[in-house]
Amino acid sequence: MQQDKGTFEKLIQEDRAARDVQSWRGTFLDYLECIKATPDVTKLAHARLHEIILRTGVRDIGESDDARVKRLFKDEPVKVYEFFADEFFGIEKVVAQIARYFHSAALKGEESRQVLYLMGPVGSGKSSLVEKLQHGLENSEPFYDIEGCPMNEDPLHLIPRHLRREFEKMLGVHIEGDLCPVCRFRLKEEFGGRYEEVPVAMRTFSIGVVPPVDPNNQDTSVLIGSEDISKLDIYSEGDPRVLDLDGALNVGNRGMVEFIEVFKNETEYLHAMITATQEKVIPAPGRHGMVYVDTVIVAHSNEAEWQKFKADHTNEAILDRIVVIKVPYNLRLSEEVKIYQKIIRNSDFHAHVAPHTLEIASMFAILSRLEPTTKCDLMTKLKLYNGEEVVEKGKTKKIDVHELRDDAKREGMTGISTRFIMKALDNALSDNISGNCINPITVREALINMTKEADLPDDTRKQYLDFLQDVLHKEYLDVVEKEITKAFVYSYQEQAESLFQNYLDHAEAYVNKTKVKDRNTKEELQPDEGFLKSIEEQIAIIGSAAEGFRQEVIAYLWAASRRGERVSYRSYEPLKEAIEKKLMTSVRDISRIITKARTRDEEQTDKYDAMVKNLLTNGYCESCVDVVLKYAANNLWKD
Ligand SMILES: Nc1ncnc2c1ncn2[C@@H]1O[C@H](COP(=O)(O)OP(=O)(O)O)[C@@H](O)[C@H]1O
Ligand SMILES: [Mg+2]
Repeated sequence: MQQDKGTFEKLIQEDRAARDVQSWRGTFLDYLECIKATPDVTKLAHARLHEIILRTGVRDIGESDDARVKRLFKDEPVKVYEFFADEFFGIEKVVAQIARYFHSAALKGEESRQVLYLMGPVGSGKSSLVEKLQHGLENSEPFYDIEGCPMNEDPLHLIPRHLRREFEKMLGVHIEGDLCPVCRFRLKEEFGGRYEEVPVAMRTFSIGVVPPVDPNNQDTSVLIGSEDISKLDIYSEGDPRVLDLDGALNVGNRGMVEFIEVFKNETEYLHAMITATQEKVIPAPGRHGMVYVDTVIVAHSNEAEWQKFKADHTNEAILDRIVVIKVPYNLRLSEEVKIYQKIIRNSDFHAHVAPHTLEIASMFAILSRLEPTTKCDLMTKLKLYNGEEVVEKGKTKKIDVHELRDDAKREGMTGISTRFIMKALDNALSDNISGNCINPITVREALINMTKEADLPDDTRKQYLDFLQDVLHKEYLDVVEKEITKAFVYSYQEQAESLFQNYLDHAEAYVNKTKVKDRNTKEELQPDEGFLKSIEEQIAIIGSAAEGFRQEVIAYLWAASRRGERVSYRSYEPLKEAIEKKLMTSVRDISRIITKARTRDEEQTDKYDAMVKNLLTNGYCESCVDVVLKYAANNLWKD
C-alpha cells in the first residue's frame, strides 16, 4: 500500500475537524443554554453508562436462528445486550446482571451508592468486561466540566445552594454536589465570585485505575491525591493551591474508577472506596475537608479473596455496600470457540487453524469446569449444555438442563482458564513453526504436556489427563472419521438426503401397511425391511425396537412439517446419527485401505487424491491434512 503525504494529511485534517465539533468552550452562562437545549448533558455517571449500554439495543436470546440456543433458552427469557454481544460469549446472564445494576443505579436507587463487584476465576472475562465499559465511556459523547478543574468538576456545582431549587426548575435537571476546594478557591480569587463567568469546556472521559497496592505502602494518595510538599513553602497551610488532586478517585470523577484485585488492599483503602460510593464524597488530602465525587466504582477479584474477606466479620459494613456479580467461566461449547476466535483475531497469531482445533481445546476447558452428575457422563453434559440433542439407544436423551444446572451451583467457578488454552495454542504452534498450522492433534499434545507440568493437585491432574487422553481422544476419532467420510463420499449432503428420503418412504409404508411407489419407475413395491434395518442397526435399534422407532420417526417428522419446518436428514437427531453412521460404514473399508496403504494402485491414488482435495476445500491446509490423515491411519480402523 502506497500512502503519500496527502493521504496522511487528509486523515489528520478530517480528524481534527471532527474533533473541533466536539470541543465546545464557553462561560458558565453559555453552558446553561446548552443544558436548556439538551438536559441530558448533566447526566450522572451511572445514568450515562446505562444509556451507553442500552444505546445499541437489546434483544431476546430466543430470537436467535440457532436451534441449540432456542432449545436452551426456551423457558428462560434472557436479554442480550448488543453493546457486549460481539465480544462476550456464553455469559449473557452475567451481562444482564451488570445491565440491571446500571438500570437501577441510573434511577438513583440504592445501587447507585454501591460498588459493582465482579467475582470469578482467573480468565473468566472480568477485566475485559470492565474494559468494555471504559471503552463505552471513552467513545461516548464528551461531557462538560469546569475548565482546569483537576476533578473534571460538574459546572452545576457553581450554582450557590440558595438558588438551586430555582435553577433546577428552570433547567429541568437535578443538581447535587459542591465545588472542590480548588474550584472554590479560583471562583473567589480569580472571578470574585462571579460564577457565571467561569469557563466551561467539553472534555472526554478518563478512567481512574487502582491496582492492588503494596501492603507496606498503602498511601492513600493513589486514591485521593496529595499535598505537594514543595508548594507548602510558597502557600500557607490550608491553601488549596498545594493540592495535587490526581488520585484515581479524582481522575475518575464523572466517569469510572476500577479497583483491580480489590481485596488485596488494606481496609483503610476499602473504606475510602465505600465512602466514595455510599456518601459520594472523598477526603481531600491535608486539611481540605471532603470533596464530592460522582463515579461508577467497579471492583473485581477472584473468589478466594472474596471468601477470605467475607469471612472476617469486621468487614460486614463494607459487604453491605457491594453488589456482587458472579462471573463464572462460560460452559457452552459453541461460545467457548468464539472466545478463542476473538482472542486470535485480536492478536498476532497468524497461523492456520485446522477444523475442530478450537472445538477440541474448548471441550477440554469446559470438561474441566463441569461438576460430575449421576444423570450422565461429562461429555454428554457438555453437549446438553451446548443445546445439542444426545442420542442414546435410538432415543434423544431426556435430561433437563435446568436440573443439571441446579444440581451444580458452583459450576464454572473452577477449572481451566481461557489463558491456559491460549497458551496451549501458542505452544502447539511453536512446536510446528515450519507448518505454520495448529490442529487438534498438536493442540491436544500441547495440552497434555502443559497439564503434566501444571501446578495441580494430583487427582485433578489425573482427571484432566483422562479427559485429554481418553475422552477427547475418542471424541476426536469420531470427528475425524466423519470428516474423512465426508471427504470420501461424493456429494455427501445429497447422499445423506437421499438415504433419508428413502428411509422415510419405506418406513411410512411399513407403518401404514401400504406400498412404496418407486420415484422413477412408479412401480408399487413392498417396503424394504432389509434397507430399514441396515439404517437402524447403526444406532443399535434391532428386533422389536424397530417398529417403535419407525413410528416415532414418522410422528416426529409429521409434527415438524405441520409446524412449517423444512424437514431434512438433520431434523430428527437419532435418524441423522444413523444415516451418518451408515455412510461412514459404507466407505469404511475403502477409507481404511486407501488411507493406510503405503503404495496405492492407480484407482486408489485417484480416490485418495480426490479425498485430499476435498479436505483441502473443507478447510484443511497442506500441513494439517497430512497430520490428520496419518493420525486417522494409525488410530482409526484398528486391525
Ligand atoms: N465469556 C467470555 N467471552 C468472551 N471473552 C472471554 C470470556 N471469558 C474470557 N474471555 C477472554 O479471555 C481473556 C481473559 O479474560 P480477562 O478479562 O483478562 O479475565 P479475568 O480478568 O477474569 O482474569 C480475555 O481476552 C477475555 O476477553
Ligand atoms: Mg483480570
